[in-house]
Amino acid sequence: MPSFKPLPGFPDGLPEDARKLCRLEGIARQVFSDAGYREIRPPIVESQALFERSSGATSDVVQKQMFAIPSRDGADTMVLRPEGTPGVFRAYLEAGYAKTNPFQKFFYLGPMFRYERPQKGRTRQFDQYGIEAIGSASALLDAEVLSVIFRFYREAGLRKVLIAVNAIGCPDCRPAYLRTLREALAPSREAFCELCRDRLERNILRLFDCKAETCRAMLANAPAIGDSLCDPCRAHDGTFRGALDPGLPVQHDPRLVRGLDYYTRTAFEVLHEGIGARGAVGGGGRYDHLGEAFGGPHIPAVGYAVGVVPTLLALEAEAEGGAVPAPTPEGIFVACVEDAQRPAAFRLAETLRGAGIAADIDYTAKNLKGQMRAASGRSFREVWILGPDEAVAGTVKIKRLSDGSERALPVDAAVAQAAGGPPDAAR
Ligand code: HAM
Repeated sequence: MPSFKPLPGFPDGLPEDARKLCRLEGIARQVFSDAGYREIRPPIVESQALFERSSGATSDVVQKQMFAIPSRDGADTMVLRPEGTPGVFRAYLEAGYAKTNPFQKFFYLGPMFRYERPQKGRTRQFDQYGIEAIGSASALLDAEVLSVIFRFYREAGLRKVLIAVNAIGCPDCRPAYLRTLREALAPSREAFCELCRDRLERNILRLFDCKAETCRAMLANAPAIGDSLCDPCRAHDGTFRGALDPGLPVQHDPRLVRGLDYYTRTAFEVLHEGIGARGAVGGGGRYDHLGEAFGGPHIPAVGYAVGVVPTLLALEAEAEGGAVPAPTPEGIFVACVEDAQRPAAFRLAETLRGAGIAADIDYTAKNLKGQMRAASGRSFREVWILGPDEAVAGTVKIKRLSDGSERALPVDAAVAQAAGGPPDAAR
């Protein structure tokens, strides 16, 4: 018998975990749509070239982390999307919004794929909840994105988040800064780690991501991008910061850079002390030049993606596993005293479902005690018991699990009451 193990980094998403994900998804949908973001469901598979053009050919995500699928005719390489932004932007262009209705706010929930070393908080398949506001250069929109995602984390139950923000310039002011930075660091080139020496040549901003102590020490006095901003970037940053709710836990981090190449002006990451070095619970920022990168018009945009795996870890860290409340008991378990009543229990469960009430029965030949145990283990609100006496009388015995109280009702009346009855009726 072959034993099949899950591939490393691909979680099984068992019901216990799915329950937590469902709760977070519900909060994300609510918070995002309350702020005017509409759900979009772009494909999971896209052309590799899309990410090379947008996320950046020298970014780690594109260089090392994409799951690639060569097309059968060899003409193209498809990839499992490593992030949502490029696909949403592509879909926006494809739908013609740029011409018909250029300002659009989208949200998406779904799996992303990155080939990285699986570890706590990092998997190869992971969910993101993203928002993308496309078609406006307003700095107020950057502030809206921050406030929406802060609301998401707060509703989810996180209290100890910190929002790190930075202004990282634009194609007008960044090249001069990068030259200054390169010149400042060139004399110590050999002291950097191998990866950073490579970054010095190819993507110097990524140096600020290095975790090695020696590299960090050398960067401590390096020039910061904030000192080289052009006037429009400076003005944008001023409006953005001025618009932020002073109650938000925002901190300026002059060393914050992002791992994807498309960012301009505002960049942010949400950190959580409970997961420390394991990374951010999400990140985002402004990306004003994807339109040009895709060979089209200038279309400014800003967005953010919640990392769901680190968010769950942070929730666990805050509440030592108890942050996700147990589901409210709901629905009805229909139990039978003898095998003879099993078909009637099956029909009654179907009737309840038809009336819009969650219902289930046992299919594993458990005796009544076993059925009762199964029902309380799965948090049903009531158990309806059918025995030989009830079968003759056309009634059902209703046991409320919260207090153990029992009552008998004719089956039809019980269903009617459960379907539309008083507030404490089983639903
Ligand atoms: P990102 O910073 O690459 O940004 O990813 C956002 C979040 O996804 C990270 O902060 C982290 O929480 C989570 N994440 C990334 N990789 C993994 C992984 N292997 N396992 C678990 N979680 C992970 C983006 O993806 C941008 N598209 C965000 C954005 C939207 N920017 C503008 N709009």
